[in-house]
Amino acid sequence: MPRAPKINMIKIGNITLQDNTLLAPMSGVTDLPFRRLVKKFGASLVISEMIASRAMIMQTRDSLKKCQKDDSHFPMSVQLAGCDPEVMAEAAKLNQDLGADIIDINFGCPVKKVVNGFAGSALMRDEDLATRIMEAVVKAVKIPVTMKMRLGWNYENLNAPSLAKKAEDVGIQMLTVHGRTRCQMYNGSANWELISQTKAAVKIPVIANGDIKNSDDAKKALELSKADGVMVGRACYGKPWLIAQINAELKGAEKIIIPSIEEQHKIVLNHVKEMIEHYGEQTAIPLARKHIGWYSSGLKDSAEFRAKINVTNGAENVFDAIEKFYELQFLHLLQPQESL
Ligand SMILES: Cc1cc2nc3c(=O)[nH]c(=O)nc-3n(C[C@H](O)[C@H](O)[C@H](O)COP(=O)(O)O)c2cc1C
Repeated sequence: MPRAPKINMIKIGNITLQDNTLLAPMSGVTDLPFRRLVKKFGASLVISEMIASRAMIMQTRDSLKKCQKDDSHFPMSVQLAGCDPEVMAEAAKLNQDLGADIIDINFGCPVKKVVNGFAGSALMRDEDLATRIMEAVVKAVKIPVTMKMRLGWNYENLNAPSLAKKAEDVGIQMLTVHGRTRCQMYNGSANWELISQTKAAVKIPVIANGDIKNSDDAKKALELSKADGVMVGRACYGKPWLIAQINAELKGAEKIIIPSIEEQHKIVLNHVKEMIEHYGEQTAIPLARKHIGWYSSGLKDSAEFRAKINVTNGAENVFDAIEKFYELQFLHLLQPQESL
């Protein structure tokens, strides 16, 4: 098991984080109910889903939902994407007024729709425009501004260190690097070692991201990248406790008990209830299906359960299916296990 490298406290402007593992922003996943849950287990920083800056300044229903926060939520970081410095600045100012504690700028999204609109990782190909966006946002708000990017557009253009330096010069307070290029999309594996070049280029905190699934990965990523912290995304699917677990293990805890089946049962029910409160039943149920499926992963008869949930409509029927599935898990646990 890798030893935890010495890690520093992360300071984002005047905000000091209590620990070094952050929840990655994920569109369609890190909405208010999920962020609240991850925060409750113990995470120092959670980030909203990416919000298009134009939709934000028009205050569309969807963008206002995405940046919603509650009292449990300090510090709340709102992530913005866009290619117009003025619009990005206005969107940032609006979020500051709505209660955001940090603004994060997205230069990492590889999705065609975003890149074709010349936002997300496309901006890594135009460092001047990217710098003007960062400068405009930093000037527009009093709260700290952070930025998330990839290693570069492709392996021939690994310009994260150069953009990082420009970011630091215009007042960005923390950087996250996903250790893949845009052209890799999500293929291959994240290169944590290459992130060390960005860390070496700046004095502000750098966070390593990509393929971190547990505390052993986190220790390895910290060691290879020399970063100040790690950010975890997909590994949190169905495991809102994972960030807290990695944080505790990085601080030296030997064995962290993951929630029992009874506790997991309560977590799923509560999560779905909160999604219904947040979105209303009609919108919440289709969105909740993927979370319910992720929670069930690895449990007895989970494939059948997922197939059933995917065609179950109405909150009552969904709760009923969840009850039956977890009852099956309790019965399964009570049965004497075959000796090996
Ligand atoms: C479903 C999904 C949605 C994502 N949405 C965003 C987003 O809104 N903003 C962002 O900066 N990155 C987004 N990402 C990228 C993640 O933040 C993260 O960089 C990437 O998943 C690699 O980390 P991981 O291997 O820990 O998942 C998304 C990733 C996934 C899988």
